[in-house]
Amino acid sequence: MPDAPRFFDTRPVRAIRTAASHGQPMDRLRITGGGPLAGEVGVAGAKNAALPILAATLLTGDEVVLENVPQLADVTTMGRLLAGMGARLSREGSRVVAKADAIGAAEAPYELVKTMRASILVLGPLLARFGQARVSLPGGCAIGARPVDQHIKGLRALGAQLQIEHGYIVAEASRLKGARIVTDMVTVTGTENLMMAAVLADGETVIENAAREPEVVDLARCLNAMGARIRGAGSDCVVIDGVERLHGATHRVLPDRIETGTFLVAAAACGGDVRLTGAAPETLEAVLDKLRQAGAEVEAGADWVRLRARGRPRPVSLRTAPYPGFPTDMQAQFMALDCIADGVGRITETIFENRFMHVLELQRLGAQIDIEGSTAVVRGVPKLSGASVMATDLRASASLVVAGLVAEGETIVDRIYHLDRGYDRMEARLAALGARIERLK
Ligand code: UD1
Repeated sequence: MPDAPRFFDTRPVRAIRTAASHGQPMDRLRITGGGPLAGEVGVAGAKNAALPILAATLLTGDEVVLENVPQLADVTTMGRLLAGMGARLSREGSRVVAKADAIGAAEAPYELVKTMRASILVLGPLLARFGQARVSLPGGCAIGARPVDQHIKGLRALGAQLQIEHGYIVAEASRLKGARIVTDMVTVTGTENLMMAAVLADGETVIENAAREPEVVDLARCLNAMGARIRGAGSDCVVIDGVERLHGATHRVLPDRIETGTFLVAAAACGGDVRLTGAAPETLEAVLDKLRQAGAEVEAGADWVRLRARGRPRPVSLRTAPYPGFPTDMQAQFMALDCIADGVGRITETIFENRFMHVLELQRLGAQIDIEGSTAVVRGVPKLSGASVMATDLRASASLVVAGLVAEGETIVDRIYHLDRGYDRMEARLAALGARIERLK
């Protein structure tokens, strides 16, 4: 470990607060639309599994080895957050080694939490292992209010005392005690936080109405490899038998289903023949179904997906829902596909109340979209026309890239630091498939 390249830096948080992305804040993408996509691209590990699993390394002082960790701005931010507390992390390619044997301050500062809400995931592990935590409240978010009341309610049920002081959740517990928790709604990071808290609690915890997302299952798999006793992950009832301590382990992060879906939608929109390797098609059924409805030919094996498409897509209507329903993180990309479909698609967002920020930008490219409450009615047009657009959040950025790839002429996508949070060098990988796309510094 001593010779391994550094994964994070230990500059004071103030110095790094504006450096949360790999690219520069002003980077843009220039896309010249047209042309089909063809070729093969490898899928990275799942961001939304890597983040809770990195937080879970706080649960032991032993070394945890993680494979298939994606190279993303959000992963770097989580690394900085852990390092700021005293954890030692190193990275070589997609392999990260973490050791939390000298945690000094059990604290997640506002400067990092405000750039990445998933920072809240350190709350459960810190409280479980150290009996205390000070984690900034995330505040508002571009896609909706996104409160963390369920995390707080669940931890209180486990016997923790939590107060809000000066914008921070200040939490304390001697040893958490197993309890039955029923969450008011299905929450992914809420389920993960409570699961991580409960692994070291005294006795049995039952989480009902648990999120069934594959990333929750992957986290449970990693925790069990570390000595936890969790069963039922992937169902809506997760049962955790608390243990005294966890130990080191090696875990491979599951493939990113949203990245996979985004590349597939791009190919369905542009036409062509694209094969994605290192994927987990069984986690993508709702998305593959919709791609077939759009007229694409989709074939899948154990760890690959191939999509072939020609001509204008057929419109698809969909409604986002917790897993195994259609993922909200794929909603914006499918809206871009509907923009050029031969007919009318209706897209209903049920998870986040403000997740249509991409609509106004898609309209700048010539899309015809009307918003009716939580439904966007998309009337497909034969052609979009390139323009300058601005990304507002991670998946909105991905939808603008898809739209830019099919639009006639040049599209400039501004503020792509959002894109860099969740996609590793997306432009290079699309270019390898034949897209005309480049990053402007
Ligand atoms: C996770 C994903 C995000 C995805 C989302 C929904 C990570 C790091 N992020 O976010 O990419 O879009 O799931 O699939 O995994 N809610 C509350 N109170 C709470 C918790 C949630 O009201 O305490 C609400 C939220 O505002 C939202 C809904 O529940 O309306 C679902 O949110 P949740 O599943 O918690 O999303 P995240 O875990 O933040």
